[in-house]
Amino acid sequence: MQKNNQSLYLTSAVAAGVVLLIGFLGYQYYSQSKEINMLLEERNYFLKESTASKEALSEATSTINTLEEELINLKEDLNDLADDYRDERNQNKEFEDQIRDLAGTLGDLDKLAKTDEELLQKYSKVYFLNENYIPERLKEIDDKYILEGKNAQFFHARAIDRLEDLLRAAERADYDIKVVSAYRSFDEQTDLKGQHTQVYGSGANAFSADQGYSEHQLGTTVDLTVAEVGGTYESFAQTEAYDWLLKNAHKYGFILSYPEGNNFYVFEPWHWRFVGEDLARDLERNDDTFYDLDQREIDKYLLTLFD
Ligand code: DAL
Ligand code: ZN
Repeated sequence: MQKNNQSLYLTSAVAAGVVLLIGFLGYQYYSQSKEINMLLEERNYFLKESTASKEALSEATSTINTLEEELINLKEDLNDLADDYRDERNQNKEFEDQIRDLAGTLGDLDKLAKTDEELLQKYSKVYFLNENYIPERLKEIDDKYILEGKNAQFFHARAIDRLEDLLRAAERADYDIKVVSAYRSFDEQTDLKGQHTQVYGSGANAFSADQGYSEHQLGTTVDLTVAEVGGTYESFAQTEAYDWLLKNAHKYGFILSYPEGNNFYVFEPWHWRFVGEDLARDLERNDDTFYDLDQREIDKYLLTLFD
C-alpha cells in the first residue's frame, strides 16, 4: 500500500512537472512569437519606409535629370540667342559701314559733280575748249599783285585764295612776284594770238596757244614775273624769284605747265597753272610733269582739287 502511494505520488509529481514544463514552454513560445511578430511588423514598416524613400529618391533623381536637361536646353537657347544677337550686331555694324561708305561715296560724287572736270584737262594742242566755255566764277586779283601798267586780272573764284597765298608767301620771302596775265576768254586769246602772229608769223605758235587751246581760258592759270624782267620772258628763269617758285609753288597747288624740253611750246618759266595741292605735290615728289601724266591718272585728283 505504501508502495502504491509512493508510485502515485511520483507519477503526480512527474505529471505536474510536465504540466509546468508545458506551461513554461507555452509561455516561452507565446512570448517569442509575439516578439517575432513585432519584429516582423517593424521589418515591414522599415521595408515600406525604405521603398517609399527609394521611390522619393528616384523621383527626385528623375526631377534633377529633367531640370538638368532643361538647363542644358536653356544654355543652348541662350548661346543661340547670343549668337543671333552677335550676328545681328555684326549685320548692323556692316549696315552702318555700308551706309557710311555710301554717304562718303555720295559726298564724293556730289563733290565731283560740283567740280569742273575741264580744270584738269590738258589744253595744249591736245584738247579743245569750246568758245562758250567760261569758268563758273571769277574774282579780281588784288591789284597790288598786278604788274604795273597791266589791266585788272581775274582768277577762278575757288582757287584765288591759293594764288594770293602763294604771292603773299613770296612777298614774305622778299620776292615781289607780279601777275602779268591771268584769265583770258576765248575772244581775248583770239586777239592775243592774232597780235603775236602779226609780229612773229607762224613762230607765234611756239609760245602762244590758239583760242580754245589755252589754259588761260580756264581761269586757273597765271603768267608771273618780277618788275626787273617786266613781262613774260625766258630771262625770268634766271631770277631768284623763279627758283623760289620752283621750290614752293607746289605747296599752293601750282605747277609749271611748260618746263624745258616739253613737247608743246617753248620753255615758259612764267606760266603757272593751279592743279590742286595733291597733284602738284605728287608731281614734285615724283619729278613728273603734268603733260607727261596720263589723263586718267590726272582725273583722280579732281576730287581733291580745291581741298
Ligand atoms: N602761252 C601759252 C601756251 C598760252 O598761250 O596759253
Ligand atoms: Zn601763260
